[in-house]
Amino acid sequence: MKHYHFGEISSTNDYIGHLLQIEDEVVVTAEFQAKGRGRNEKNWFGGYRSNLYYSYGKKHKTEVNYEELVSYQFVGCLAVLELLEAIAPNISFRLKYPNDVYAKTPNGWKKISGVLVEHSFSGDRCESSVIGIGINVNQREFPIAEGINPTSLSLLGIETEPERLIEPLSGNIKKYLELSPSQIFEKWSNKLNIISKIVTVSNKDGLWQASKLYPTGQLELLSLDTGNYIFVDNSDSIRYELD
Ligand code: BTN
Repeated sequence: MKHYHFGEISSTNDYIGHLLQIEDEVVVTAEFQAKGRGRNEKNWFGGYRSNLYYSYGKKHKTEVNYEELVSYQFVGCLAVLELLEAIAPNISFRLKYPNDVYAKTPNGWKKISGVLVEHSFSGDRCESSVIGIGINVNQREFPIAEGINPTSLSLLGIETEPERLIEPLSGNIKKYLELSPSQIFEKWSNKLNIISKIVTVSNKDGLWQASKLYPTGQLELLSLDTGNYIFVDNSDSIRYELD
């Protein structure tokens, strides 16, 4: 698989879109992103050479159904989790719904990685999918932002370089993409371990209990106040405690 590495780039997720015009499968990494993007139109900012800024992209030669598309999100999360557990076997890591990976620190669980999956369509047909991954590696100071409490491998006492994560991460992604969407979903939902957890939802009052996960990535929540059910997905922001 081809790998393009850049010094400064706007966003690896944006650039890979151009490369997928000429490549079937490709990885793009950068030392710095001037316009790194996170979920829900948020910025994803990290220092020069501090962190891993990585995108894996794949062109679809045949029609892809919805569950297969959604499984790219699960693959990204599982691939990061497996990588971090291999690098730092003495540290606990958890997936957090929908697209985050957290690490256990003496001051509680903190975000170490985020995954941004994007698909390109021509009409109804999905032409390509991109798994964008940011992993905090050597950054030791983070801007204060509400609701975000990041950490990095360096803050966890693990010294490595972002470049060293690229090959094993790509290997994990390829490995998970060989599984069927239902196998991928099962692995993701087992690792997520969210069912029965008490959840708060931004823009919604009250407490909710996670009752069911669907292969579409949607999470069903039961209101502990009214007994009503709602669905949330990766465009929503929810909070709950990890254990
Ligand atoms: C999130 O937690 O909101 C997802 C963050 C994803 C960040 C990565 S860094 C590499 C790739 N390029 C981007 O612009 N974003 C993703």
